[in-house]
Amino acid sequence: MENFLIRRAVVSEQRELEDLQMRASLTNAGDRDALLAHPDAIELPPEQIAAGSVFVAERNGAIAGFAALLPRTDGGAELDALFVEPTMRRCGIGRRLIEHCCEVARLQGSAFLHVIGNPHAQDFYTACGFRLTGTAETRFGPGLLMRKIV
Ligand SMILES: CC(C)(COP(=O)(O)OP(=O)(O)OC[C@H]1O[C@@H](n2cnc3c(N)ncnc32)[C@H](O)[C@@H]1OP(=O)(O)O)[C@@H](O)C(=O)NCCC(=O)NCCS
Repeated sequence: MENFLIRRAVVSEQRELEDLQMRASLTNAGDRDALLAHPDAIELPPEQIAAGSVFVAERNGAIAGFAALLPRTDGGAELDALFVEPTMRRCGIGRRLIEHCCEVARLQGSAFLHVIGNPHAQDFYTACGFRLTGTAETRFGPGLLMRKIV
């Protein structure tokens, strides 16, 4: 039987989560070259972990993915990171991390969960109930401004 849980990350997992972020990001074909040229783009600040803003999905005892949630000045919540281990995709882990972040955002009083979505992940976000509201320039090209009612 599958054992699945979502818990807060601990600071000692920073490196492990950054390595996961790198593996996950390299599967976005259009980002690969830029990422290999600028590996410093992979960064999970320990302050975010210490603040309790990073949530880890564990599947059968192994870290399968993580998400980071930040407050916005407009009262909404921002999904600042979402990465699932390439070998564990399409099992619903990303969706469950989104659901968890929505629940936390709702408890914090937010009405919306926002994300600057990587275009490679647009179908995923749409499937999870996000709507496109615009675009934004990011360090690695255009990002999709998307949001979901929590
Ligand atoms: C985007 C990402 C987090 C999705 O994680 P995941 O655990 O594979 O997603 P789920 O299994 O929960 O998918 C939920 C639904 O989203 C849609 N979806 C997910 N991945 C998809 C893809 N590659 N293409 C099309 N639809 C997709 C499907 O409708 C899926 O439901 P289904 O499998 O029943 O058809 C993962 O692919 C990832 O880590 N990508 C690289 C990093 C990244 O781009 N992160 C987003 C940064 S903004």
